[in-house]
Amino acid sequence: MKVGCIRECRTGETRVAVSPETAGKFCALGAEVLVESGAGGESLFPDEAYAKVGASVLGSAPEILTQADLLLKVRAPEEKELRTMKKGAALVGILEPNGTPGPRAYAEANITAFAMEFAPRITRAQSMDVLSSQANLAGYKAVLEASTHYPRMFPMMMTAAGAIAPARVFVMGVGVAGLQAIATAKRLGAIVSATDVRAATKEQVESLGATFVTVEDVDAGDSETEGGYAKEASEEYRRAQEKVVREHIAKQDIVITAAFVPGRPAPKLVTREMLSSMRDGSVIMDLAVEQGGNCEGSQAGEVVVEQGVKLVGLRNMAGRLPADASALYARNLFAFSGLLLQGEEGAKVFAPDWEDEIVQATLLTRDGAVVHPNFQTGKGAA
Ligand code: NAI
Repeated sequence: MKVGCIRECRTGETRVAVSPETAGKFCALGAEVLVESGAGGESLFPDEAYAKVGASVLGSAPEILTQADLLLKVRAPEEKELRTMKKGAALVGILEPNGTPGPRAYAEANITAFAMEFAPRITRAQSMDVLSSQANLAGYKAVLEASTHYPRMFPMMMTAAGAIAPARVFVMGVGVAGLQAIATAKRLGAIVSATDVRAATKEQVESLGATFVTVEDVDAGDSETEGGYAKEASEEYRRAQEKVVREHIAKQDIVITAAFVPGRPAPKLVTREMLSSMRDGSVIMDLAVEQGGNCEGSQAGEVVVEQGVKLVGLRNMAGRLPADASALYARNLFAFSGLLLQGEEGAKVFAPDWEDEIVQATLLTRDGAVVHPNFQTGKGAA
């Protein structure tokens, strides 16, 4: 069985889906691993490191695409790459199937496609959870990036020339990224507060030494799905939340927004009117900018200044730590591949357990057909 890994060609994508560590593990399973020369370069995985563990380093992507039985990717392949792939091959990555190529394109190319972002949040899938592994790094890096845009200090400091007040950091959306952002801002000495629509996050926020800012008078109702994700908040809750945030944000220096509702545009939590209440030099780091943004006016890939406040809309925050992001992502995919391969140690073949809950949740297409329930006819398969 041939496992392929090519250089990611999306602009700004620094990560790679196979690390030398996981390449070695695939080789030990009996797979032939094909890696495009330079694929791991930005993650500081040189070609020699792959060759050393037994992988074959090839000069061009088509050489790999035409041979690989299992292609491991970070992002969805481009149309041209998809057309070049071996018919009947399997593809694993963060495929963002609501975009292009969509499930129908994979089905037409007879590719068995697995979208890792659909893995269920169950204990057994934790080692395969690409959203968590990448969001954790993104939350950390967001705070460091914010600190470089902020013209003041994070920690309180007593100096001979007088005292410097600590920065006030407000984290909106306390999922995996938000929690890591809170922990990182605390470590840098900021006074940290946070909010989330899910009541369960209060305890998590407080356990990190931050203050929980919440809507007291309106019940968020059933704000959480069985899988632990947020549901879209009610209109009444949104209005009450806006009032609480408006009062709180006026006293904040840095806001890290990391609020998402799966399958929906990111909720708008920071309005232009709120920006006007913040002091000059304040920073908003919008981690949801690629999903439409949590802050009015923030733009993907841009740093814009509105009313004296810097809106930082950096894309692909985890990709700003490529070495760690790739190492963790590659391990996630290796763990997931365990569900796809069967047979004797040293001679594994592609034979997924199609009944497995994680396989079923991630599987978009099989045998030339779209099989994922979200993309059945009439539900937007493209
Ligand atoms: P996410 O990235 O989907 O969302 C981030 C946060 O935004 C969530 O906490 C959500 O409640 C919040 N949010 C959404 N709308 C909001 C609004 N209007 N105002 C304020 N906040 C809003 O979430 P993520 O990071 O993927 O994690 C979701 C949950 O799943 C967390 O509780 C996490 O601990 C849990 N989880 C469980 C795993 C498991 O295997 N059991 C693995 C990973 C995460």
